[in-house]
Amino acid sequence: MTKEFKRNSGRKPEEMRTPIKAEVGIIPNADGSAMFQVGKTIAYASVFGPKKMHPQHLQNPAKGTLRCTYNMLSFSVNDRIRPGPSRRSTEISKITEWALEPVLMIDNYPNMVIDVHINIIQADAGTRCAGINAAAMALAHAGIPMKSIVSSVAAGKLDKTLVLDLDKYEDSEYDEGEGSTDIPMTFTPDGRLTHIQVDGKITGKQLKEAVELARKAAKEIYEVQKKALKEIGEE
Ligand code: CDP
Repeated sequence: MTKEFKRNSGRKPEEMRTPIKAEVGIIPNADGSAMFQVGKTIAYASVFGPKKMHPQHLQNPAKGTLRCTYNMLSFSVNDRIRPGPSRRSTEISKITEWALEPVLMIDNYPNMVIDVHINIIQADAGTRCAGINAAAMALAHAGIPMKSIVSSVAAGKLDKTLVLDLDKYEDSEYDEGEGSTDIPMTFTPDGRLTHIQVDGKITGKQLKEAVELARKAAKEIYEVQKKALKEIGEE
């Protein structure tokens, strides 16, 4: 008999962290805002705009600009993080723009910019996914025309076992066998990928399985986001 794979947290391989929470309209000063939490990871997103792009030379007459700024607050992890931009935050800001752009009707806003500020209040891995989930809701809340929102989650591999939604220990410290692979992904509600990254090693066959696992989980996340948007719409 093969021994059942045990995760440090006691979760099953295909189990996401809990709680999964979403709330829309949490920052009154913003044109749109939302919070997304999965386990101990919490992201806040606020949208400002569309507004005229300044300085003028950055204006694009063909379409609007989505500008995302991802920031992990200094107290979001146990070792204090030095405030200000880093290579990592610049990369995640870009990735967030790419994950959101396919659903955004940005052509409607020539010479304008839509600013999305993502702040990670608590970080226990999966912060880019949580940030994307919060940003998608905040953009919808701001009334920016979108084909749909998007939902983001990571799948991955611990040694040889495929798992969903890696936590910090699994992402950074797990070192048994083949170690860990983290694959953050973003989906439209009809299951199309708008973003995928692969951090670690995985075979083509397992990658396909990981995408399927995440696609199913993204649908669950979408339901939570949809409910939060509906609740604010009813207020
Ligand atoms: O957060 P995400 O998984 O999207 O990105 P990562 O770069 O793979 O980071 C994984 C986790 O490492 C973060 O969520 C934080 O918990 C932690 N981290 C940290 O403690 N200090 C940093 N400077 C960067 C990340």
